Amino acid sequence: MVTTMCECKCGDIRPAMIPLAAQRMSVEEALLSRRSVRAFLPRPVSRSTVERVLEMASHSASNSNGQPWQVHVLTGGAKDRLTAALLQAHDAGARVQKCEFDYQPRPDDWVEPFLSRRSEFGQGLYGKTLGIDFTDLVGRDAHHRRNYEFFGAPVGIFLTVSRHQLDSALIDAGLFLQATMLTARAAGLDTCPQASFLDYYPVIRNHLDIPDDHRIICGLSLGYADTSHRLYRFTTPRQCVKDFATFYEDRNEEALTMDVFTSGTASLPQAPTQEVSAGRVMDIDHAAWAGWNQNSPEQSVGERASSV
Ligand SMILES: Cc1cc2nc3c(=O)[nH]c(=O)nc-3n(C[C@H](O)[C@H](O)[C@H](O)COP(=O)(O)O)c2cc1C
Repeated sequence: MVTTMCECKCGDIRPAMIPLAAQRMSVEEALLSRRSVRAFLPRPVSRSTVERVLEMASHSASNSNGQPWQVHVLTGGAKDRLTAALLQAHDAGARVQKCEFDYQPRPDDWVEPFLSRRSEFGQGLYGKTLGIDFTDLVGRDAHHRRNYEFFGAPVGIFLTVSRHQLDSALIDAGLFLQATMLTARAAGLDTCPQASFLDYYPVIRNHLDIPDDHRIICGLSLGYADTSHRLYRFTTPRQCVKDFATFYEDRNEEALTMDVFTSGTASLPQAPTQEVSAGRVMDIDHAAWAGWNQNSPEQSVGERASSV
C-alpha cells in the first residue's frame, strides 16, 4: 500500500489518497450542478473518499482560524440504528419544542419575502414534483420521514460546532458545509443538508458522542444521486444579482474585472447584451456570467454598472 504523511502535519501515516477532482470539475460547474438531492442509490462511498472530502472542507476559512467544527460520519449499521430510533421518535410524536439553538422562526413567524419563497419551495417539492396536496398530511409525512433515512444515501454526516462564540461558529459551519457539498460534487457525489434532524436532537445525542459544549448544526446525506428518480428533477430558482447586490463605484472604474473567469467555460452560454437597470445597477445573467467575458475581454463589471 502506498502511504503518505497526513497533510495536516499531525504526524499520522495514512494510505495515499487519490485526488478527488478526477472529473476536472471547475468551481463554477460544482456550484451550478450542486443541488439538494433527495433520492440516492445504495452504491457505497469509500471511507477514504469521505475523508478526502472532509479534508478538503477543512481548508475553509474560519474566524481567527478557530475551526470550531466537528463531524460525525455514519454508515452501515450505525446509520441504520440511528434511522430506526429517529423514526420511532418521529412516530411517537417526540419532536422537540425548542431546538438546541434558534435555527428558524416558528411557522407563523416567517416574514416576507422569505415566507413566499418558502411556500414556493414547498409547492415545488411536494405539489409539482411529488404530487402531494398541501392538505395531504399523510403523504407529506411519508416524504418527510425520508429525511431520517438520509434519502437512501449510504453516508450520513452530522456537523456540530462549539457553542462558544456560537454566532461566529455558525458562519464557519456554513462555510465548511458549502465546501463539503462542493468537494463532494467534484467527486461525482451529491448531498442534501438537513436541518430536519434538529427536531430530534436528543435522539442523535443518545447515539453519537457529541461533546456537551457542541451544538448540532445539521445532518448531511452523502452518496450517488438516483438520477432516474422524479425528485432529481426538482430544482429551485434564484434571485437575480441585481436584486440582492448593490454596487458602489464610478462608471469607469476597472477594479472589478472578471478576467479571471474566462478559462474553461466554452460550454456555458454566451454573454448577455449589456443592460443598465433603472440607471443604477448592471444586470448579469448569473447562469451566463462565466461565459460573457470570454468574447468581450474589454468588458468589466465597472463598465456594466452605472454609478450611484
Ligand atoms: C441548513 C440547511 C438545512 C436544510 N434542511 C433540509 C431538510 O431538512 N430537508 C430537506 O429536504 N432539505 C433541506 N435543505 C435543503 C434546502 O431546502 C435547499 O438547499 C434549498 O431549497 C435550495 O435548493 P438547492 O439546495 O437544491 O439548491 C436544507 C438546506 C440547508 C442549507
